[in-house]
Amino acid sequence: MILKVKNLSVDFQFDSQAVSALRDICFQVAEGESVGLVGESGSGKSLLSLAIMGLLPSNAKISKGEILFENSNLLCLSPERLREIRGDRLSMIFQDPMSALNPVLNLEKQMGLLLRAHEGSLSAGQIRDRSIELFRLVGLPDPVLRLRSFPHEMSGGQAQRVMIAMAMACHPKLLIADEPTTALDVTIQAQVMSLLRRLQAEKKLAMIVISHDLALVSQNTQRIYVLYGGEIVETGSTKQITETPKHPYTQALLSCLPARQKEDEKMITIQGQVPSLRNRPKGCQFQTRCPHKQVRCEVERPEMNDSSVRCFYPESYHYSTGP
Ligand SMILES: Nc1ncnc2c1ncn2[C@@H]1O[C@H](COP(=O)(O)OP(=O)(O)O)[C@@H](O)[C@H]1O
Ligand code: SF4
Ligand SMILES: [Mg+2]
Repeated sequence: MILKVKNLSVDFQFDSQAVSALRDICFQVAEGESVGLVGESGSGKSLLSLAIMGLLPSNAKISKGEILFENSNLLCLSPERLREIRGDRLSMIFQDPMSALNPVLNLEKQMGLLLRAHEGSLSAGQIRDRSIELFRLVGLPDPVLRLRSFPHEMSGGQAQRVMIAMAMACHPKLLIADEPTTALDVTIQAQVMSLLRRLQAEKKLAMIVISHDLALVSQNTQRIYVLYGGEIVETGSTKQITETPKHPYTQALLSCLPARQKEDEKMITIQGQVPSLRNRPKGCQFQTRCPHKQVRCEVERPEMNDSSVRCFYPESYHYSTGP
């Protein structure tokens, strides 16, 4: 395994009270594997990726657990060593590429800063050559001209390609893509995902694809973790999760997919909302929205069972795509 997250818990400090944001997260990625993390907005996906990157907001604290990357615990490393690993072996792309680029520097300068930070002293010519090579790798048209562009001169899709080029600059072993296409329109979304799939296969990259969109995640991964209310509620192969989901939340996410809905039906959505941090219920986090809730679910917290489902009554109902 290239990444092993073991029993990770993250708390926020609100008015001298610790509020749990992620609880007992167990998550792993093998070398060259593409793994999905799916859940509605507010479920804790970005917090988990920021925890792995060592970039949690200052009011968040890891209260428990380990994050092993290539067998060393990232939580025990010095900030300098962590910075070296980040960008070098471990890279991340974010939802909004524009906000991650510096608006006042052209791309040649930004690539130069990045490459020098990780590869030491490079001449201007070497930086140019390497940048052009990276722009070609991510399919940016006119890579030589591109070097002179400023971020505002690019479309969202092109800016995301630049971010991917930057993430690939130092030959990472693991790439975390947090909602990489949520800010893009549908055709560009497909192109960016196909680029990530190609890079993953060519460079034998391990990848974590994070999205609220189960369709996108299932088209691009081999395994999936489903996150709800700061907990992993189900995990399995992408085939198992999409064909025979066992947790009521996974079942609800699936029945909301447009492809699973009949044309003349109103768009099905899951009733209710992800519980806010301050209102996390005792017992099962999904109880306020679960059609199968029983008394036990209100008082006791379900553990992950042997079939990797966090639910007391997982087998008693079956999902069917219908005739
Ligand atoms: N800096 C922060 N301070 C307080 N709460 C936060 C902060 N960042 C995220 N949260 C809360 O943590 C929960 C998980 O957030 P996040 O990881 O961003 O969810 P997701 O990426 O799945 O949409 C949410 O309830 C969110 O409001
Ligand atoms: S534990 Fe109970 S409330 Fe939670 S998902 Fe299972 S049946 Fe629903
Ligand atoms: Mg997020």
